[in-house]
Amino acid sequence: MPILIAPSILASDLSNIRGEITKIIDAGADLIHLDIMDGQFVPPITYGDCIVSAVKRCTTLPLDVHLMIKNPEQQIEYFAQAGANIITVHIENYLSQDTQTITIDSLVNVKNIIDMIHSYQIKAGISLNPQTPLDIIKPFIPQIDTVLIMSVQPGWCGQKYISATNQKIAELRTFIDTLQKTTKPLIEVDGGINAETARDAIANGADILVAGSFIFNNENYAEQIRKLTISNLD
Ligand code: DX5
Ligand code: ZN
Repeated sequence: MPILIAPSILASDLSNIRGEITKIIDAGADLIHLDIMDGQFVPPITYGDCIVSAVKRCTTLPLDVHLMIKNPEQQIEYFAQAGANIITVHIENYLSQDTQTITIDSLVNVKNIIDMIHSYQIKAGISLNPQTPLDIIKPFIPQIDTVLIMSVQPGWCGQKYISATNQKIAELRTFIDTLQKTTKPLIEVDGGINAETARDAIANGADILVAGSFIFNNENYAEQIRKLTISNLD
């Protein structure tokens, strides 16, 4: 399967959203990644369902909505109405503060939010932060469509890729490959992706690369996307 590229428009010129979307489509983007931050799950606040809906009016590409918010179950309906095609929620919302494990109640809550997302015919993703162990999400992997591995601390563009992510991607790849399912979840890697880190992520089994600064901090978006995708050919 070819590697899919999901530009994060948080790193684009937001004063010209339609122009940026048009340019990134022409450059070969496969998905549009939208980083939703609430000032609570992460310190910054970005944008909400109104902007997702505005982006929807600019493109037919799938919208990949990454919810870095608390209480995501209260927002699914609005992002569904706004036109999300994938909605990803963070597993950290469901971990007990003391033990960083999942309680029986939380298991049910995670199952419920996956079902809620699917009830709108939207693909469901689970994301995990760099310090969160992969084992915590394994029970849910057969039920979801994407696993979003954070390769930086969530909250900001332009950070450095954490190299320990490569091991996590490889472990997840092995786990997914052994699943007895016809449709298996895709592995998405988010944060600090550039030509070198893309090569590592792909070599370890990534399917989708999210990239913000690497694409948008350069005039030639097509050339930047090409640098990310050719890294698995040589
Ligand atoms: C970080 C976001 C990422 C980020 C990617 O919290 O989830 O999507 O915008 O930006 P770069 O590619 O600059 O790390
Ligand atoms: Zn993101």
